[in-house]
Amino acid sequence: MPNRMKISIIGTGYVGTVTGACFAELGHHVVFVDISPQRVAGILKGDPGFYEPGIGELLKKNSQRISATEDTKSAVLATDCTFIAVNTPSCADGSLDTTYIEKASEQIGSALRETPGWHTVIVKSTVLPGTIEKILVPALERTSGKRAYVDFGLCTNPEFLKEGCAIEDFLHTDRVIFGVHEEKSQRILEDLYASFSCPKIVTSLKTAEMIKYTSNAFLSTKISFSNEIGNICKALEIDSRSVFEGVGLDSRIGPHFFRSGIGFGGSCFPKDINALIALAKEEQVNPVLLNAVVSVNESQPERMIALLKRHMHDLNHKKIGVLGLSFKPDTDDIRESRAIPIIHSLLSEGSCVMAYDPVAIEHFKTIFPSISYAASAEEVLSSDAVLIVTEWDEFKHLDYREKLVIDGRKIKKAQEEAKIYEGVCW
Ligand code: NAD
Ligand code: UGA
Repeated sequence: MPNRMKISIIGTGYVGTVTGACFAELGHHVVFVDISPQRVAGILKGDPGFYEPGIGELLKKNSQRISATEDTKSAVLATDCTFIAVNTPSCADGSLDTTYIEKASEQIGSALRETPGWHTVIVKSTVLPGTIEKILVPALERTSGKRAYVDFGLCTNPEFLKEGCAIEDFLHTDRVIFGVHEEKSQRILEDLYASFSCPKIVTSLKTAEMIKYTSNAFLSTKISFSNEIGNICKALEIDSRSVFEGVGLDSRIGPHFFRSGIGFGGSCFPKDINALIALAKEEQVNPVLLNAVVSVNESQPERMIALLKRHMHDLNHKKIGVLGLSFKPDTDDIRESRAIPIIHSLLSEGSCVMAYDPVAIEHFKTIFPSISYAASAEEVLSSDAVLIVTEWDEFKHLDYREKLVIDGRKIKKAQEEAKIYEGVCW
């Protein structure tokens, strides 16, 4: 067992909560901090306030090693190192909004002013290359009156977990990245991850920041590529999913992230690719491919509406059912969900929308308070047509006979038994 450390986690969203709960599971003591009193209270009850399989159980199981507070200072003073896991959203122009991470750094800096010994700050949030040097170092030094890398440690350890299987992804990651500038912080990261058997890559801060963006940009590119090929396949009456089965077996290519359909949503791919585009432009690099990835992604949901119109020329006053509102299954996260542009289009055509999702309806009501929400997936099937937007498991067992189904995610049973069936890329 490596040294048991005392860790503070600033920001108890998906990444902060999973990071803290997993480190507590590994035997460390964790103090969670959030500006939201509800989130703090939730952590203490073992209810993080979002749906993620297994996380509530992990918080409860390790509750003797977990505490939570709204006060950054007391957390930092009581611990050896601090992970920053706050949100790094997009500005209106797509560039990275560093307001939250700068504020969190200032709060940590004020606490560092009083720390008697060494304390390492570890950036988990996704930040563009150069952000730590340009934003975090000045904020931390200004508020602490101390020098980064000399009086306190600063490093980055980007996160690669996926929502819906976040715990498994965290504990059994393909690799961990240590972006460091001095040895003491590197040793802290090595201690924290001592029990992980995956490759551990040590790089500069900037390289580590870039590894995170490049990973997300590549995965998004794979998806938009699969969708462009999928659109060509559809025109040729070829099933693109079968094509990618054959293609993915080439070990140089790999089988993952070729699920063609209506594109990617979520809190990260759209924001991260847009931030990278904005950075490229700032550096006078024309991001031709990245722009195309976004453009394919934005047009995929429209293809679903176009396919519906092949079978239902006038959507005005038609009752259209939407199955799935979260950006992917096994999460209640609706950020950038493909359901959003799809429902906007249906409403602009004058359709009456009835939507269902196993866990995301309450969140969705904040954007679409006036559409109707079904109590079950079966109820949605009473509509004039059904659109499958998220591939929740329960949609794999519905009775689609006699239905008109437009499928964005390839649900086999719908394809086999619907009266009229159109897949977006097959
Ligand atoms: P989130 O929006 O779910 O949670 C962020 C939390 O930080 C919120 O609870 C907010 O109240 C809190 N916060 C903001 N400012 C604070 C402050 N000054 N002090 C204390 N708490 C503060 O965000 P998330 O999805 O967990 O993402 C966090 C970061 O991790 C982002 O940079 C994101 O790009 C990155 N990331 C996310 C995922 C993912 O799957 N969600 C995966 C990898 C990386
Ligand atoms: C993604 C990455 O997979 C994580 O490695 C990364 O840590 C995270 O972003 C992040 O930086 O926040 P996540 O957004 O949780 O994770 O979910 P994914 O499983 O990657 O799905 C993203 C979107 O792409 C979903 O809308 C999904 O439906 C879509 N997708 C995914 C496809 O359309 N096709 C695919 O083949 C795969």
